Amino acid sequence: MKATATAHANIALVKYWGKKDDALLLPEAASLSVALDKLLTTTTVELGDFPSDSLTLDGRTEDPRRARALLDAAGISLRARIASRNEFPTAAGLASSASGFAALAVAACAAAGLDKSREELSALARLGSGSATRSVPGGWAVWERESARQVYPPAHWDLRFCVAICAGGEKDVGSRDGMRLTRDSSPYHAAWIEQCKRDLPEALRLLAARDLAALGALAERNALRMHADALAAAPPLVYWQPPTVASLHALRELRKQGVAAFATIDAGPHVVAMCRPEDAPAVEARLRAVEGIADVLVCAPAGGARVLP
Ligand code: DP6
Repeated sequence: MKATATAHANIALVKYWGKKDDALLLPEAASLSVALDKLLTTTTVELGDFPSDSLTLDGRTEDPRRARALLDAAGISLRARIASRNEFPTAAGLASSASGFAALAVAACAAAGLDKSREELSALARLGSGSATRSVPGGWAVWERESARQVYPPAHWDLRFCVAICAGGEKDVGSRDGMRLTRDSSPYHAAWIEQCKRDLPEALRLLAARDLAALGALAERNALRMHADALAAAPPLVYWQPPTVASLHALRELRKQGVAAFATIDAGPHVVAMCRPEDAPAVEARLRAVEGIADVLVCAPAGGARVLP
């Protein structure tokens, strides 16, 4: 009763930032993401008659309650020993609940001998973390309701995503609390959700056409509007650090010089710049020159979660 699975973290181009059901983790609006090859998590689940559940992340003991919610929903009543490792080339502040819970859903069901569809596995991963829904199918994925689906395989478009590490350590307010606070107190929240509903069909059209200039601009606007919503919360949520802002300006300068590179930022300080493979060395070098950036990881689109033999 033991299995190991891997999953990649994903970066959203149309963000999920607001729940319509806090217990079931159902989103107010649909989101679009791409899985990133270098952001890989490996999780081993062993089921048995243990005194309690246990969870370690990169060797540190963590609270297993969110994992238990997922296991209960899968009908797994045996206790679980869960060991999760982030195979990220850099440890600094890139912990991903998306890859972690996607790998957990797949490994736990394999350990229990449950034969679940990708859709069912995606819906289970959601109960750990909303964004994990999209890491189960991987590739270019859309999450609308209970589960996410792959709309294009990774090979649909060979782009690069330069992940600039703009700070170390944990952020003050995690996505779970930040999202709730924003929904409940930002006067701009309804407008943000309406914007996402307009952005998704347009983003899918631009993704089908592989139009980097237009999709990149849309993704950058979408991310900045999510942060505008969070900044308008009470108390305000400021996820950015000085290198975050400096990176946004650096990418603007690059665009003036004719390099198509666009930013997206999750609920944290790190900037992810999307660009063509041939421009990635220049984008990476420019970001590395930003004061305070500790590292830059250049990622390509990746596939979904899978059980290791
Ligand atoms: C900003 O999936 O971490 O990265 O569902 O509460 O666990 P919970 O939140 P989480 O939020 C991710 C928010 C985001 C945008 C995105 O990935 O779409």
